[in-house]
Amino acid sequence: MKVRFTETVLRDSQQSLLATRMPYSVFEDILKAMDRAGYYSLECWGGATFDSCLRYLNEDPWERLRNIRKNVKNTKLQMLLRGQNLLGYKHYPDDVVRKFVAKAIENGIDIIRNFDALNDLRNLEVSVDETIKRGGEAQIAISYTTSPVHTLEAYAKLGKQMEEMGASSICIKDMAGIMGPQEAYDLVKALKETVKVPIDLHTHSTTGLAPLTLLKAVEAGADIIDTSISSMSGGTSQYSTESMVYALRQLGYEVDLDDAVLKEINDYFKPVKNKYLETGLLDPYVMGVETDALNYQIPGGMLSNLIAQLKAQNAIGRLSEVLAETPKVRAELGYPPLVTPMSQMVGVQAVSNVIAGERYKNVSKEVRAYVRGEYGTPPGEIDPEIIKKVLGDEPRITDRYAASLPPEFEKFKKEIGDLAKSDEDVLSYALFPAIAEKFLKERKEKEENKAVYTIVEA
Ligand code: CO
Repeated sequence: MKVRFTETVLRDSQQSLLATRMPYSVFEDILKAMDRAGYYSLECWGGATFDSCLRYLNEDPWERLRNIRKNVKNTKLQMLLRGQNLLGYKHYPDDVVRKFVAKAIENGIDIIRNFDALNDLRNLEVSVDETIKRGGEAQIAISYTTSPVHTLEAYAKLGKQMEEMGASSICIKDMAGIMGPQEAYDLVKALKETVKVPIDLHTHSTTGLAPLTLLKAVEAGADIIDTSISSMSGGTSQYSTESMVYALRQLGYEVDLDDAVLKEINDYFKPVKNKYLETGLLDPYVMGVETDALNYQIPGGMLSNLIAQLKAQNAIGRLSEVLAETPKVRAELGYPPLVTPMSQMVGVQAVSNVIAGERYKNVSKEVRAYVRGEYGTPPGEIDPEIIKKVLGDEPRITDRYAASLPPEFEKFKKEIGDLAKSDEDVLSYALFPAIAEKFLKERKEKEENKAVYTIVEA
């Protein structure tokens, strides 16, 4: 049996280890080798990479994508997309979603990994439809979590619906690295028995389970696994590519990756990693194993957030109460997967319930919107008493929320005016208004200065 690899070093790995601060210039010279390695795909674009390009690196994210494409001619380029939320956490109208997907594919993306924090497939309808229309591959990801309503049957049914929607493959996305080997085995098996499309497993090394989980997923029939070149692997990143290749070959699996090229890629990233360790951007702490998430059954990032919130309110002594309150709140809200933005919403509510001394006395506008149904349908039922307490007599939304949003692309285009030189610029502005405007202004000033110099020199 053949196992294929998605390399994450250009997106998730550097996002997890380096807060996505790796400029294009740092990896440009290794792209041609990466194209020769034999990867199934290179994950290279997504929310944080796009944001970080504009916010910190003074790079045009679209230009980065085109430059990667110029150097990577044969291997598929992959991006991560939050469905109707595109690269952020709010719903965009359908015209903006369609335009973004079309432009991502036009600029070089082959595979779009679509996911929704609640696994509400209505939030993926439009992005998946447009991906397929534009000739792209629409991978659909399951936001993985555990709860009494997240049974194997429920996941298999979800997988079937994804296949019917046109998914080219299905990814199990364990963003917190809390999936154990038996869970991986059972879930992959259940999906393989239900759908025909390839199954991809995405996990993180945070809790140390990753290689076991990946191996058991492969044993159950997973077709693709997400890994990172070894010097940029481990900890909050993905598990090491070369180690999985070695182990899987020893166990009799077929892997198409070229070991010599993998070594070349790893040798390239070793000094890159060392440089980031020296500058402090890479904290050795995030490369270790952190098992607290397994004890509390909440993602590591969420745990550190809860601690930070309590410290800010001089209430760190109440951590154990908050840790007991968190799963209660999650159950009452219908067991949302604890991924952004749900993890923040549940966390803030749990802290508030403990500190205020009265449960749901204070409710954030995000939790209110969630209870109203703006984010989609929760996996389980929201406690009727909580609905009443939060909404009063206000009705809940049962339709796809984005269907109620009027088209906005032309509005954004008008707003940003001639600072935008292309529809891509308009999309940057639509997604990250303040930072994109600043970026486009600075770009214009630079170009004007250049023009002045050229005239003087002439
Ligand atoms: Co991830």
